[in-house]
Amino acid sequence: MTRHFLNLSDAGGDAIAAMIADAIDRKAARVAAGLFKGAADRDAPLAGRTLAMIFEKNSTRTRVSFDMAIRQLGGTSMVMDAGSMQIGRGETVADTARVLSRMVDAIMIRTDDHAKIEEMAAHATVPVINGLTDLSHPCQIVADLLTVIEHGLALPGSQWAWLGDGNNVLHSIVEAAGLFKFDVRMGVPEGYDPDPRFAAEAQARGAAITLSRDAGAAVAGADVVVTDTWISMGQAGGEAKLKAMMPYQVTPALMAQAKADARFLHCLPAHRGEEVTAEVIDGPQSLIWDEAENRLHAQKSVLLWAFGLLG
Ligand code: CP
Ligand code: NVA
Repeated sequence: MTRHFLNLSDAGGDAIAAMIADAIDRKAARVAAGLFKGAADRDAPLAGRTLAMIFEKNSTRTRVSFDMAIRQLGGTSMVMDAGSMQIGRGETVADTARVLSRMVDAIMIRTDDHAKIEEMAAHATVPVINGLTDLSHPCQIVADLLTVIEHGLALPGSQWAWLGDGNNVLHSIVEAAGLFKFDVRMGVPEGYDPDPRFAAEAQARGAAITLSRDAGAAVAGADVVVTDTWISMGQAGGEAKLKAMMPYQVTPALMAQAKADARFLHCLPAHRGEEVTAEVIDGPQSLIWDEAENRLHAQKSVLLWAFGLLG
């Protein structure tokens, strides 16, 4: 069976735990060996493999982390903007999947429509990895879990607070909550709720997922406080949305209602003064630079899993 990674559940909790453990080991081994960032890990487990990356939307972290990840595993990559491919002028996703499957060993795609990545996976005979869709961002959340674990958090029973838009990143956090049995309190203004299917599935797996219009209630006693841009790529913005989101801005006063050692996460890119103030995102509780670096370490593990070498 070809291993696609469209959502966290495609791998499941045990495999994601194995990914995180391997990421911690590989990260430490590279530090111990004093390797340059572009040098391959000693075992170069993906030597000879090529990853094709397709971007329909902008990216800094996803693009660079996957590119460096495959290099550090001994393989190579190619990065393509969808607009410069034939897919950008109407070639079908299915035909693109069939052709790429004949030439490369895995495909990572960032697309505006989750249905497209499902179609790609249905027709590809090599692994397809979700580099963000309108629905979910699973690779980000593997990095986020790795980050909070590195910073001493035991996931089961932990309390996470999400503030702001009910978006793709939140969907994957809620999915992770079901897999790792932690709770998520979502502070989201009316009209911007997340897709309820993720909460229903996580709750069926034993996580407590609650939705509140009160930012303080969402954040009270939280171990982890997370936010993201109020206007995701491809979304309509506007004053009305910014106004609705303002009470959910992560400020020092809001952070003070979480646990004293609460950690702050943001997948980046950030908008200081909108979803979070500079004091918080640049403050001592913020883990954002470790979180960004961990995209690299986590994406190596996702690739190893996709190639059947982990989990
Ligand atoms: N967090 C994240 O996915 O960043 P990019 O959009 O820069 O890839
Ligand atoms: N929710 C954001 C995440 C960016 C990494 C977006 O989709 O634009």
